Amino acid sequence: GPSLSNPLRPVLLAAARSPRLEKTVAGMGLTRKVVDRFVAGEAEPAAVSAVRDILTTGRFATVDYLGEDTTDPAQATATVDAYLSLLRSYATLSESIETPRPLEVSLKLSALGQSLPGDGAKIALSNAHRIVTAAEEVGAWVTVDAEDHTTTDSTLSIVRTLRRDFPTLGTVLQAYLHRTEADCREFSGPRSRIRLCKGAYQEPASVAFQKSAEVDASYLRCLKVLMDGNGYPMVASHDPVMIDAALDFAKQAKRTSEDFEFQMLYGIRDGEQRRLVAEGNHLRVYIPYGSQWYGYFMRRLAERPANLMFFMRSLASN
Ligand code: FDA
Repeated sequence: GPSLSNPLRPVLLAAARSPRLEKTVAGMGLTRKVVDRFVAGEAEPAAVSAVRDILTTGRFATVDYLGEDTTDPAQATATVDAYLSLLRSYATLSESIETPRPLEVSLKLSALGQSLPGDGAKIALSNAHRIVTAAEEVGAWVTVDAEDHTTTDSTLSIVRTLRRDFPTLGTVLQAYLHRTEADCREFSGPRSRIRLCKGAYQEPASVAFQKSAEVDASYLRCLKVLMDGNGYPMVASHDPVMIDAALDFAKQAKRTSEDFEFQMLYGIRDGEQRRLVAEGNHLRVYIPYGSQWYGYFMRRLAERPANLMFFMRSLASN
């Protein structure tokens, strides 16, 4: 795949982390069209309406309230409130639309206070606990996103703790990390939900594969472990090679389409999403919303030169 061989990838991923560039990009007067290609909107009703649209096409949804690397406890609390409100909307939505799989929210522990000095991990754990409790009340699933490798140990330890009370809590594992095949073995037990993705951050060679061929090979090894395990694999990739492998491995492990699902990002390969559903597979769309779209948006630009071209063209026509 082209993702890691995009020469601009390191530059864009470094830019994704820069508050100064965030201001610059915000000041560029990006047309909504550009951001809206990847983000459902800034406020909750836009997200809920995107979820409704996705559900009516036979796909499932997971919603992410955008935000990361929170340095302010009040912002972490505001993020919790956003999720609690979204989950109340889920309850209403479920009354009007039937889905054979629960709705889901995806959250980033760094948005819940994980990186606050001192007891950040504790704050993130208790914030996440509030969200997962509320989700269970409305019958929704929760999955914890994976962020850069400096957070992996802390994130997985918080997930282990939460799983004592909530065994179906999902977690994301990133195939580009050397450690992930072992993590897949640990987390593929009964009822566990694992979202396997390639990984979207800039990581050093000491912890992560650097060549896309190596990342792909690792993804296939991890996918095999998950499909042969007892959990519920969530295959998060737009890559046709990974998608075909998932169908193969599922068959080999005697899984039906009920026993795993595909997941793709909002606005990416919509036609392929519909095709997979038409062929009888389950597919969930990851729908981000909120005003803190900068980091998410920049990681999407870094993934694919075509996304970057789309962005540049829209600037030129501004
Ligand atoms: P990749 O970008 O390597 O592309 C491989 C091939 O897919 C391409 O060669 C092309 O054939 C096809 N393709 C990709 N995009 C296409 C397009 N727009 N049109 C046509 N063909 C296209 N990351 C992370 O670090 N932490 C996380 O928590 C998450 N969470 C997450 C959830 C979900 C639901 C998804 C889908 C992804 C994530 N990710 C993530 C992001 C993930 O790590 C990764 O960066 C992107 O999914 C891109 O990798 P792919 O596997 O999609 O293929």
